[in-house]
Amino acid sequence: MSLLFAIVLSCVFVTSQIAAEGSEVVSYAGFQVWKIKPNSEEDRQFVLNIKDTYELELWNERKTARDPLDVLVPPQSQTKLKLRLAEHKIFYDVVISDLQTAIDKQKINVNSNTSNSKAAYNMDWITYHRLIDIYNFMIYLNTTYPKLVQLTKIGTSYENRPLYVLRISNSSLPGTRPAIWIDGGFHAREWISPAVATYIIQQLVEVPANANLLSNVDWYIMPVVNPDGYEYSHTTDRMWRKTRSVSSTSSCRGVDPNRNFGYKWGGLGASPSTCDETYRGPKAFSEPETLAMSNFITGKSSQIKLYLTLHSYGQYALVPYGYDVVYPPDYNEMLALANDAASKFVKYKYTVGNSAALLYAASGGSDDWAKSIGIKYSYTFELPDRGTYGFMLPSSEILPVCKDFFPALNVFATKVATCCGAVTTTTAKPQVTTTTTKPQPTTTTSKGTTTKCSCACG
Ligand code: ARG
Ligand code: ZN
Repeated sequence: MSLLFAIVLSCVFVTSQIAAEGSEVVSYAGFQVWKIKPNSEEDRQFVLNIKDTYELELWNERKTARDPLDVLVPPQSQTKLKLRLAEHKIFYDVVISDLQTAIDKQKINVNSNTSNSKAAYNMDWITYHRLIDIYNFMIYLNTTYPKLVQLTKIGTSYENRPLYVLRISNSSLPGTRPAIWIDGGFHAREWISPAVATYIIQQLVEVPANANLLSNVDWYIMPVVNPDGYEYSHTTDRMWRKTRSVSSTSSCRGVDPNRNFGYKWGGLGASPSTCDETYRGPKAFSEPETLAMSNFITGKSSQIKLYLTLHSYGQYALVPYGYDVVYPPDYNEMLALANDAASKFVKYKYTVGNSAALLYAASGGSDDWAKSIGIKYSYTFELPDRGTYGFMLPSSEILPVCKDFFPALNVFATKVATCCGAVTTTTAKPQVTTTTTKPQPTTTTSKGTTTKCSCACG
């Protein structure tokens, strides 16, 4: 992790950083976020090449030459980088002039006061919340709506926190209908992700007007896949991304959970170096979090028809594969549904496309893995914003982001309900007679059987 070295090398921060390896809070005083605007592919390469020299941390990466690069610049590099960019006539904006000030500001809007006696639960979508609030909220729903909600502990994190999945179903026989999986909180610092996932839970469970979303579909929602990292991003290092597991070969902690899944593990865009932000881990599913999640999903793979994972930031709807620019045979169907969902967004527009083509190749992702086990529709959504605040999205934006996002679920639920039909608990899949070419709506096959819809979930 170059950032770590940056802080260690800077004498101003030596003491705070060494302490941070213990328990003290990491300071980002003087750190800035720059939006650098390359004029050409050459410019872009230049910036990427000097990344390590100036201890820069890239917060986003786009493939297209002229797309701006959001870069975290440590204090000691700012003057030098400014000169280098000027030499190359590359312009930039300082989007965050002091990261620590932004962190302190956001901290005021973190709620973890569990003693609010008036409300049923200490959860809202105008502040960010600590894990305890999120978990207590899920436990509350489980006890309050036993017919609708089922809370399952699917495992324990590296630091022994429970890993919770909430099932929402109004079926008398849950597990017999097609289901949608949604997760959030893979990457610790992407705080908007658990916020949106919990909002979805609240809307599905407590708002009667949303009952139509439950009529044919079951929901499995895991709002915090990486609870250790999430807590660490609250208590110690706001910019933490990975899990918190200890390495046997290095003093750098944590694995990128979204490089740790067992499909094309260890390929492009997944670092073998323990200190890197995209460290893939010593082996696929080395992390208890990814292992528990994959085991749970695998056990329900004939039921789960759509996999949705929430990240931030950038406003993208990403379609597999992400391990390389490779398209699944049914890519067009996957893309069409993503476009349909994204068309519901009003306030924040999302760019829709293939993950590796649009961003960068990154192997070992959960979306690719979900697709590989036969979940037809699999997506990564990068929630807002586009880099004005990045990970430091103000809490006043939480509710607008959630409200804008929610209508897309109707598109997903409708698709899954109409195309994926009733699911049996056995491994038998609904037989729909179609060829691999584009299925036609209500096809009468040569055998004379009429298929129910223009799609199948295979
Ligand atoms: N921002 C996400 C990440 O870097 C994108 C993941 C897209 N999926 C993929 N399989 N590469 O983890
Ligand atoms: Zn992420």
